Amino acid sequence: MVSYTGNTGSMLLLLVLTLITLSLSHTDFCYDDGQCDPYAWGDYYPSCHPLLDAHHSPIDLGQQEIRDGGLDALELSGFNSTPTGRWRLTNQGHSVVLEVGGGLSVSGGGLPGSYRTVQLHFHWGSASSNGSEHTLLQQRFPMEMHIISVKSTYPNLTAALDDPTGLAVLAVFIDLVYVDNDNFLQISSALPFITYKGQEKSIRPFPLLTLLPHANLSQYYRYHGSLTTPPCSQAVLWTVYEVPITISWQQFELFISGIYSTQEGAEHAVLLQNNFRHIHPAYSTVYASRHAHLLSSTPQQTTLTLTLTLTLTTLIPALGLIS
Ligand SMILES: *[C@@H]1O[C@H](CO)[C@@H](O)[C@H](O)[C@H]1NC(C)=O
Ligand SMILES: *[C@@H]1O[C@H](CO)[C@@H](O)[C@H](O)[C@H]1NC(C)=O
Ligand SMILES: *[C@@H]1O[C@H](CO)[C@@H](O)[C@H](O)[C@H]1NC(C)=O
Ligand SMILES: [Zn+2]
Repeated sequence: MVSYTGNTGSMLLLLVLTLITLSLSHTDFCYDDGQCDPYAWGDYYPSCHPLLDAHHSPIDLGQQEIRDGGLDALELSGFNSTPTGRWRLTNQGHSVVLEVGGGLSVSGGGLPGSYRTVQLHFHWGSASSNGSEHTLLQQRFPMEMHIISVKSTYPNLTAALDDPTGLAVLAVFIDLVYVDNDNFLQISSALPFITYKGQEKSIRPFPLLTLLPHANLSQYYRYHGSLTTPPCSQAVLWTVYEVPITISWQQFELFISGIYSTQEGAEHAVLLQNNFRHIHPAYSTVYASRHAHLLSSTPQQTTLTLTLTLTLTTLIPALGLIS
């Protein structure tokens, strides 16, 4: 009997080990394909667990910032020139990623040192849902761009993930208007060539500054957070610009209706939509730069509107204007 129990124990152990191995070999992740979503990432990537008290991203902005007068515009070295060589735009299945060559770096603005810019990518929604990752006063923008830079002392992105300040990410909200953003054409015109996961297109470099809200670079929020994709490493100093850039509805359409999360020829082609992670509570202080306008002043406007409305509703009947 003892040996029987022992065998059951071994079989259970074997089963558990098999399950663990299966889990570890599951390295892909998903957004909203019905079977799984970001809330389940923690099953395979422990540091993505949403219940963990930690520096998770994204967060809601605009309500709780503390102004830090020392936070001026970042130094964006090389962002204003046209690098030589080619850049590569890839459909990675979870996003569209533009790998930029060398020559670009960010520093200043309270960052502890210099960070080498390696890539940028996008998060978006669908025709009926906005898809930025961060929210401003709980409002999502249609899209969000992330420009990723790695602390210069590390050879690559992976090597920086154990350092709480290993990465600096610039986040830019994207709003929609009727006119094309010409600075965005290099990217948007390449999208039809990378319809399916794994496809890539070489593109001509351009000054990256043209994709930033260049009149308002000194207005931003800063906090310590995480990657918003597995392994969700808490290694990011976030700079979220307050003022969005704009692209046209047509350019937006190329993302939401033209990029698939599946490979060419897949039995069930799945459009890549709503590739954003849910909002987390801010775990540490969120700072506003010296020149941020702090849209948190909105509650005062609400009070003003309310007062005005109350005044009007009491005045109007008194004036006999409502018959
Ligand atoms: C979606 O974005 C548009 C444009 O910025 C904005 O007007 C709208 O309020 C947003 N909707 C939601 C639900 O956040
Ligand atoms: C990143 O750098 C580390 C440390 O030098 C190295 O071991 C690793 O192979 C590199 N990874 C990639 C993907 O290049
Ligand atoms: C952007 O910066 C310009 C120039 O400083 C300023 O006039 C404008 O109000 C800023 N825009 C926003 C939305 O804060
Ligand atoms: Zn991102």
